[in-house]
Amino acid sequence: MPAWNDVAVRAAFPALALTDGGLPRLYGDAPGGTQVCERAVTRMREALVEHCANEGGLFRTSQATDEWMLRVHAAAGEFFNADGDEVVFGLNTTTLVFHFSRMIARQWSRGDNIVLTRMDHDSNVGPWILAAEERGVEVRLLDFDPLTYRYQYDELDHLIDARTRLVACNHASNFLGTINDVQRIVAAGRAVGAVTVVDGVQSAPHLPLDARAIGCDILSTSPYKYFGPHAGLMYVRRDFANAMVPPLKVRPSPMTMPHRHAPGTPSFEAQLATYGCFEHLAWLGEQFGGAPEQASLRQKMVAGLTAATVHETALSVQFLNGVSALPHVKLHGITNIQDVAERVPTFSFSVQGRSPEAVAQQFAARNQFVWAGSFYAMEVAQRLGVWESGVVRFGLAHYNTAAEVDALLDTLESLR
Ligand SMILES: Cc1ncc(COP(=O)(O)O)c(C=O)c1O
Repeated sequence: MPAWNDVAVRAAFPALALTDGGLPRLYGDAPGGTQVCERAVTRMREALVEHCANEGGLFRTSQATDEWMLRVHAAAGEFFNADGDEVVFGLNTTTLVFHFSRMIARQWSRGDNIVLTRMDHDSNVGPWILAAEERGVEVRLLDFDPLTYRYQYDELDHLIDARTRLVACNHASNFLGTINDVQRIVAAGRAVGAVTVVDGVQSAPHLPLDARAIGCDILSTSPYKYFGPHAGLMYVRRDFANAMVPPLKVRPSPMTMPHRHAPGTPSFEAQLATYGCFEHLAWLGEQFGGAPEQASLRQKMVAGLTAATVHETALSVQFLNGVSALPHVKLHGITNIQDVAERVPTFSFSVQGRSPEAVAQQFAARNQFVWAGSFYAMEVAQRLGVWESGVVRFGLAHYNTAAEVDALLDTLESLR
C-alpha cells in the first residue's frame, strides 16, 4: 500500500495553496468547517454551468439533473452503508433536525419522556427541548463524566423506560472530541421502541459511518464538515421515513423518497458537490487505503477514511505529547495516548491567564486559524463551567501535517 503523501493530499484542496502577504495559512478550524476538496468544487461548477435546471423536465439539462439526483442519492446511501432512498439533503443539520422533530413529536403525549445528552451540539438538544415543551413531555439528560469525558452509560438503565419516546445522542463531540459508543445507546432506546437519533456531524470527517451497524433511525451529517459544500445530509431509515404520516411536504410533491422529506427545490449544486466529496474519499482509498479500482464506492470511501484515520491519529499523538509538556494549557478531553482511538482530532483547551479570544488572536497573528467560544455545545460547556468564558479549539483534518502541529504547539509554547 503506498505511504500517505501530504503533498498529493494537499494538492487536492485548492485553498491550501493560498497565502496572505507571503504567510501560509494554517487551517486548524476543521470542526467548524473544513476546506473544500477540488472534486467538490468541480462538481458544483458542473451543476451550475452544464446542467443548471430544475428536476422533472423533458429537456436535456433537466434530465441531467434527474440523473444526477439518483446518482448522488445512491452514493450518499453508500456513504452511510444504506440505500439511496434512505437519505435526505437539506440546508444544514440543524434545519433537518427541526424538520423531523415536528413530525416525530406528533406521537408524544403527557407522561412521556425523551432522553438527550449533555455532550451534544445544541442542534440535537434545542429542537427536542422545544418540541417537548409543546407536547408536555419530560426531558432527561444523559450526563458525561467530567474527568474521563465519556458518557455515564450505566445511567441509561435509569433514564430510559417504557415511556421513553426518543433517545438522541452524539457520535463524536464537537467540543471534547470523544467518540461515543452510540450502538449501546441506540440499542437501549430501541429496546423500549424509542426513536433513535445520532448526530454524526463530527465523526463523518474522520470515520466511516455505518448506519446499519449503529441501528439508529436518523444519522445526521453536514458535508461542509467533510470537505464539501454548506449543506445537511441525513440518513433516515426507510421504515421509519415511511411511518411519518403525513410527511411535512406540499401536496403536489411526490410521496416517495428523496422528495418525501425534502420540501421545496433542493440545492442541486450542493448535492453534486457532496458527490465530489465522496469521489475525494474514494480517491484517498485508492491512493492510500489499498482499495482496488474495481472496489465499490463504499469500499473505497471506507478505505480512504481508514487511511485518513491513521494519519490523523499520528497527528493527535504528536499534539497530545507536545501539549503534555505545556503546564499552562488545560485540555478538555481525553489526553491519554493509549486512548487516542476513542477521540477525533478536535482539541478544546484553556490557557492559564488568557482569555480564549486573546489566545485565538495570537494564533491569528501567525495566520493560524483556530476558534474561541463554546461552539453551540452548550450543555458540555455548562457542565465544565466554561460556558461564560469559553475555550479555544482547534481541530485537524487529513490535510493537516506534522509540521503544522509543530507550528501550533510553538504558538502555544509562546503563550507560556
Ligand atoms: C456535532 C455537531 N452537530 C451539529 C452541528 C450543526 O450542524 P449545521 O451547522 O449543519 O446545522 C454541528 C456544527 O458545528 C456540530 O459540530
